[in-house]
Parts: sequence; C-alpha cells; structure tokens
Amino acid sequence: MKDLLETLQPGDPDLEWANAIDPTRLPAHIAIIMDGNGRWANRRSLPRVAGHRAGVGPVRNTVETCARLGVKVLTLYAFSEENWKRPRAEVETLWRLLRYYLKKELPDLQRNGIRLQAIGRLDALPAPVRRELESVVEATSRNRRLLVNLAINYSGRSEILDAVNSIIENARRQGRLDALHIDEQLLASNLYTAPSPDPDLLIRTSGEMRISNFLLWQIAYSELYVTDTLWPDFNRAELLKAILDYQKRDRRYGGLSNGWHGRSTEEQLIEVIASPQ
Ligand code: IPE
Ligand code: IPE
Ligand code: MG
Repeated sequence: MKDLLETLQPGDPDLEWANAIDPTRLPAHIAIIMDGNGRWANRRSLPRVAGHRAGVGPVRNTVETCARLGVKVLTLYAFSEENWKRPRAEVETLWRLLRYYLKKELPDLQRNGIRLQAIGRLDALPAPVRRELESVVEATSRNRRLLVNLAINYSGRSEILDAVNSIIENARRQGRLDALHIDEQLLASNLYTAPSPDPDLLIRTSGEMRISNFLLWQIAYSELYVTDTLWPDFNRAELLKAILDYQKRDRRYGGLSNGWHGRSTEEQLIEVIASPQ
C-alpha cells in the first residue's frame, strides 16, 4: 500500500481513491474476468483483435497495482475452454498476444517480484505458447511479492474433475482406493489454484452478470463486483474503486454481521423490541 502511495504524485486523480483504502483490510486474493475486448473494438469499428491488443496494457497495469498495493494473489481469466468456439484467426491472435506479453514482461515481472503460474488444461495449447509459458513460470518461480495465476484454456468444471481424478489416481497408486473418502480440504488441495486462499473479491468487467465457468469451487464466499467498464478501459482508478466497494461489504459467511456478534439473544431482543417500527 505504502508502495502505491509513493508512486502517486500530488494532484494525481487516483490519490483520492488510494487514500480512501484501508490498508489493513485489503483483499488477499483478487480474481478478474477480463471481458469486453470485442465490444471495445466494435464501438470503434475496429476488428475484435484490436480489442484484445488494447487489453494487454490493463493486464500490465493491474498486475503492477496489485503488487504495489500488497495484494498477494491475482487470478486473471485470459482464455476459457469454451473460447475455442471462436474463429480460428481470433484464437491465433490471442496466442500471439500471449507470447508477446510473456516475452516482453519477463524483466518487469522479475524486477517487481512477481511469480507467474498458469492454470488450466495447458496440454491443449500450441507447443510454442506452452514452452514460452513454462519458461516464464520457471524463471519467476522464486518470486514472492505477488502470485499471478493466469487462467488459460481454463474451465472451473474441468478443474474440479481434474482434482477428483487425480485424487482417485493417487489413492489407486497407493493401494488406498477402497478407503478413499474425499472431503473439502482434500478436494481444495488438489485444485489448480492450491495452496492459494479463495478469492476475496471477484471482478467482472463489461457488465455481464455471470460466472462463465470461472473458479466455481473457490468463489463460494467471494464478494462479487461487476462494472460496465470494458476491459481495455479498466485502469488503476477502476481497480481501487472495486477494492473500496469490497471494503464496504459485510462478509457474513452464513453467520451474523459483525454488529451482532458477541451480544446475547436477550440483548438483541431488547434492541429489536425497543426500536421504533
Ligand atoms: C474477453 O473479451 C477476452 C477473451 C474472452 C479472450 P471478449 O473477447 O469476450 O469481448 P466481448 O465479450 O466479445 O466484448
Ligand atoms: C469469459 O468471457 C472468459 C474470459 C474472460 C477469458 P467470455 O466472453 O468467454 O464469456 P461469455 O461467453 O460472455 O459467457
Ligand atoms: Mg466476452
């Protein structure tokens, strides 16, 4: 947080947002569905791929801002298993952009202590993309400031299935298949994102009110934030606004709000009876 404030010059319009954030209640893990590149391009009468190209800058800025803020994990949805349904030329442009981003960003990732991890069924990626990805993952594996999970050829349902199948396979290899019992902890520890904590905040750009097969298990109690801003327009102020909104939420996890904790039922009843209708 201190790090972010130091980079903001007096008069910077983002300073107001940054100062309003409570540094003691930052989300440890932010997940983002980066949506709206196509619509951004459409509005400018540009081809969809121009929108994808314009979406690279916001990825860079978001990673940097999260690192400076002190967020520990950032999970970015870059390509879903369902995105293969798109025209081949669009998909190929996405792979080209990903390789370009990885090559260009490696020095900055190292300088800023950022560890990159890829999550998804990576075997299905074109070999040059997979190789580039593996080399950046390996090169950054000792960085500890911020972990960026890049979800590529990702599906939340596949992730759960892969976890279950790998648990079964391990048990079979160890001759413990008959006694196998899967509980929440065992399943969670076999997800692609393990051992990261679940996302505290899930952001979706471009206004769509759906999850699109993202982190289905992990978002059980994440706070959701949907903005109409298209991904290529998502900037530091937008991220800070999302975090401020998150800090206003009352995370109850099925329990009672903080205001009601620690008071006896009797005290609460008196309060309810005494309060005006
Ligand atoms: C998100 O933008 C990027 C990917 C899914 C790869 P879209 O390409 O989905 O943009 P819209 O939703 O068509 O505007
Ligand atoms: C979700 O966006 C996937 C990514 C952002 C990578 P989509 O554009 O694929 O989602 P739908 O089709 O609107 O649900
Ligand atoms: Mg979309």
